[in-house]
Amino acid sequence: MRIVLLGAPGSGKGTQAANLVEKYGITHLSTGDMLRAEVSAGTELGVEAKKIMDAGQLVSDDIVLGMIKNNIESIDGGFLLDGFPRNLNQAEALDSLLSGIDQPIDKVIFFDVPFEIIKERLLSRGRSDDNEETIEKRRKVYESETAPLINYYTKQGKLVTVEGVGDVTEISQRIFKALS
Ligand code: AP5
Repeated sequence: MRIVLLGAPGSGKGTQAANLVEKYGITHLSTGDMLRAEVSAGTELGVEAKKIMDAGQLVSDDIVLGMIKNNIESIDGGFLLDGFPRNLNQAEALDSLLSGIDQPIDKVIFFDVPFEIIKERLLSRGRSDDNEETIEKRRKVYESETAPLINYYTKQGKLVTVEGVGDVTEISQRIFKALS
């Protein structure tokens, strides 16, 4: 199974990814986690990425596409993409990469969560990009860059919307049902 998790920052993609990879035995690919690993390792890429992430902006397409390409090509089995693609250019590049290896995306799960709930969740988590100012910037970037992917994947007939509010286990059940 090849899945994309789509939703605003804080909508629960990472939380639900953990349950999905366990249930379906697929590989979790999170561009945010990959970038944070670079930050923790103190690489040149990590130092540059941290500034961009803390400003709530998107890291360049070339960097994230390179990371995804390196990982996807070595996966034997299904995968779940979390936080990628994040704009139309990334989505088109992904489609082209996957059609080249004959492994198209099966489903895109869109997490529908009101911004006020997202804001509460992120403020209580407290990651370095979880302050009011950066949360607001991430929301704006999401609306202008990422939200158009809802339409992109609807047109492909792959989008499934899941209400992302409530108990974590209940939301997982909604997703399992949507994928069955
Ligand atoms: P990334 O790591 O992808 O972060 P994000 O999209 O901002 O998403 P979050 O991790 O904040 O939220 P989430 O939807 O995963 O929710 P979570 O499960 O964690 O990206 C970070 C940065 O990296 C970007 O801003 C950008 O700079 C860069 N980047 C990454 N990918 C990129 C790309 N493709 N292109 C360019 N740049 C890229 O939940 C959030 C909180 O809510 C947690 O504390 C959780 O415990 C809690 N929670 C979750 N579900 C529930 C629930 N049901 N009830 C109560 N609390 C809940």
